[in-house]
Amino acid sequence: MNIAIIGSGYVGLTTGACFSELGNKVFCVDNDLKKIKGLKNGLIPIYEPGLEELITRNVRKKRLIFTSSIKDAVRSCKVIFITVGTPVLDNGEANLSYIENVAASIAVNLPASTCPTGKHQAGMNGYRLIVEKSTVPVETGEWVKHIILANVKGKVRFDVASNPEFLREGQAINDFMNPNRIVIGVESKIARDLLSELYKPFNAPLVITNIKSAELIKHASNAFLATKISFINAISRICDKVGADVEEVAKGMGLDKRIGLSFLKAGIGYGGSCFPKDLDAFVAISDKLGYDFKLLKSVKKVNIEQLDFVFQKIKDSLSLIKGKTIGVLGLAFKPNTDDIRNSAAIGLIKMLQKEGAKIKAYDPQAIEKSKQVLAGVTFCPDAYAACLASDCLLIATEWDEFKELDFSRIKELLKRPLIIDGRNLYEAKAMSKLGFSYISIGRKNI
Ligand code: UDX
Repeated sequence: MNIAIIGSGYVGLTTGACFSELGNKVFCVDNDLKKIKGLKNGLIPIYEPGLEELITRNVRKKRLIFTSSIKDAVRSCKVIFITVGTPVLDNGEANLSYIENVAASIAVNLPASTCPTGKHQAGMNGYRLIVEKSTVPVETGEWVKHIILANVKGKVRFDVASNPEFLREGQAINDFMNPNRIVIGVESKIARDLLSELYKPFNAPLVITNIKSAELIKHASNAFLATKISFINAISRICDKVGADVEEVAKGMGLDKRIGLSFLKAGIGYGGSCFPKDLDAFVAISDKLGYDFKLLKSVKKVNIEQLDFVFQKIKDSLSLIKGKTIGVLGLAFKPNTDDIRNSAAIGLIKMLQKEGAKIKAYDPQAIEKSKQVLAGVTFCPDAYAACLASDCLLIATEWDEFKELDFSRIKELLKRPLIIDGRNLYEAKAMSKLGFSYISIGRKNI
């Protein structure tokens, strides 16, 4: 199949690369000419394990094409995915202006229909299926349809569908290729058939719904996962007060199959480009629809408070933050990505700087991006350099390489053997044996 992907960010590039790997011819479009030029020269604008190889291979096989021309893509492809960003506005609502611009551009480039009967038939010349893949508020599909109808020239045949993406950064290719489920929201047989055909190679249940349900599935899934995280973070606060261990509590809960072990990792709170933004957008659309989604408002509040809680722990253990040097390991919002959008690590660093701390930070991938948002931080070439002459070590992102550090060396480098572990990465007993004061989340301080 010929497929257009409009918007070459995380979701767009991963989707495009994976669909081309499956043998489709994919046109990845972006209006950022520099990005497209770079991609044509093999420069991948994001760090995502495996993506570069996939893109290089499929460009070589001429199945993956980068272009800034929506017109070329729309003319060449029957299925057109919209994967542009939906950033959050000041009032919490999703900013749909990029989707609006793309929908209008698609509309003016839709080919004239040559179907004499006016019926949607597979293989019908001129028919196009426009699929929203960006996370959007419920009823956006309806709105996209109106924008297209308002901008089309002459008689055209098209449908709108929703096909939300559930990929996680850092595991995007694996998530795309091995999904738990594929959700498609459609309102015509041709749309249903086209998307079913496209997803035929995948070994996953196909959940076929109407467009609004598909849109809601995405928001509801992300909101539920964020709720799990805030729930366990709230439990960590209780554990902290009574000397219970949140890791044990999470395991004891999670082994109940109805609850599940995943997304029960207490820490410094969730971040990233999805959860914070999607939660705000879901609350905003609920308000608009006349439902006060108090539960999700609390999920957000708990997440913000978790950062204060960790900040307070650091303050308590250092007595005074002003003038202290804190070595920070981890800047990305989670491991295996260079993404720092809404990173709790960055939030915490800013709070510490405000209180007068000096920061020495290391992250395996996110230093370059962090330089753009953090002033006055000493960025270090490795974990040990961040420890050198620091008053304590803060673990802010749980990269695998931080599990394998030489702690005797770290003890010698630090001014005092104090570790504040915001991700519960280490065994408390082992840390104590090594001679560290070890403070973690929802576990006894040692
Ligand atoms: C998320 C969803 O998982 C994905 O399905 C959706 O398409 C996009 O949003 P992503 O933002 O890439 O993906 O990261 P995810 O792995 O879900 O983690 C989000 C945040 O939650 C990170 O900051 C992570 O550190 C935090 N988290 C996750 C926890 O604090 N505890 C957990 O148990 C799990």
